[in-house]
Amino acid sequence: MAKNLTINSVVTSGQMRMPIVGLGTWQATEKEIYETLTTAIASGYRHIDTAYMYENEKYIGQTLNKLFSEGKLKREDIFIVTKLPLIANRAEYVETFLKRSLESLQLDYVDLYLVHHPVGFKNHGPDNIFPKDENDKLDVDFETEHLTLWKAMEDQVDAGRAKSIGVSNFNISQMRRILENCRIPIANTQVELNIYLQQPDLVSFCKENDITVCAYAPLGSPGYIKGLEKYGYSSEGAVEVSPLSEPIIVDIARKYNKLPAQVLLRYLIEYGVAVIPKSTNPERIKQNIDIFDFELTEDEFSKIRALDRGEKGRVFSSMGIFSVIRDHPEYPFPKD
Ligand code: A2P
Repeated sequence: MAKNLTINSVVTSGQMRMPIVGLGTWQATEKEIYETLTTAIASGYRHIDTAYMYENEKYIGQTLNKLFSEGKLKREDIFIVTKLPLIANRAEYVETFLKRSLESLQLDYVDLYLVHHPVGFKNHGPDNIFPKDENDKLDVDFETEHLTLWKAMEDQVDAGRAKSIGVSNFNISQMRRILENCRIPIANTQVELNIYLQQPDLVSFCKENDITVCAYAPLGSPGYIKGLEKYGYSSEGAVEVSPLSEPIIVDIARKYNKLPAQVLLRYLIEYGVAVIPKSTNPERIKQNIDIFDFELTEDEFSKIRALDRGEKGRVFSSMGIFSVIRDHPEYPFPKD
C-alpha cells in the first residue's frame, strides 16, 4: 500500500507527494500541541493539517521551528496544510490571511492551501473568526464569489507561498465551476468522509479530475460536540455517529488484532482517500498511523462499503453553525 498520494502542483513541475495519513489538529490546544506534534513526527507522520480557524498555527509553528533547528526534521520532508478562514472568502483578503498563517507557522510556504468553506462570513477583524451581526447571529457574507477567490488562490502559488491549492467542503458543481474556469486546477479537496458518509460520487468526480481527496473526521469525530460548545454553539439536534463501535468494524479489528480506529482508517486509504485523524493522545496518535501491516479482503472491503448511509452519515451539517448558512446560495450540502 503506497504511503503517499500524488498531488498536482505547478510549482514542483507536475507532481508532489501528499502522505496518505496526516495528523488532524482541530481542537488541539496550545498546551497539547508540542507533545502531540513531537509524538506524531517520531511515529512517522509527515503530513500535518491545520487551519487559521483552529487558532493553533502559532503553536504548531513553534514546535516545527524547534524540530527544524534541532535537526529532527527538515522542512522539505513535511507536508503542511492550512486553510483560508471563512472571514476571508474574498479575493482581496487571501494574500493577507495566507501571510498571517505563514507568519504563525514560521514558514515561507505551505504545501497545500485550501479554501476552508464555500460560504464566507463578513470580516470583523482577523481575530473574530465567528463574527456575529446585531442580532447575535453569524454574520454571513452573501458576496463570496468563487472564481475571483480562486484567482487570488492561484496568485499565491505564483508568489511561492503555496505549492498547491485546493478546497474544502465544496460540492461537485462548485468544484466543476472552478475547474472549468481556472488557470491552476484544484489539487485536493478535504471533505467529511467516514464509513457512514462515503461520498462515492464526489470521490469518483475527483478521481476523474485528478483531485486528491482527504477525509476529515474519518473516525466520525467523536469530539465534535465539545468543539461546538467551545465556540458557544448549542449541540441540540446534533447527530452523533459511532463508526468506532460498528459491529462489522469491531469484528474485523479482532480478526487482525487491530483496533476499530485502525480498521476505519485502513478502509479509507484502500478506498483511495487520505485521512487526517485528530488525536492529542500519544497512544492513539501512534495507533492511527500503524495501519500498513494488514490488508482487508475483498469481502471485508465490500461489507464496509455497504455501510454507507449517504447524507444521513454527515455529522457536520447538523452543527449549529451550519444551520445559519443553509440559506446561502453556496451552501454545499443537500438540505434535507
Ligand atoms: P483524542 O484526541 O483524545 O485521541 P476525527 O479525526 O474523526 O475528527 O476524530 C477525532 C476524535 O477521535 C478525537 O476526539 C480523538 O480524541 C478521538 N480519537 C482519535 N484517535 C482515536 C482512536 N485511535 N481511537 C479512539 N478515539 C480516537
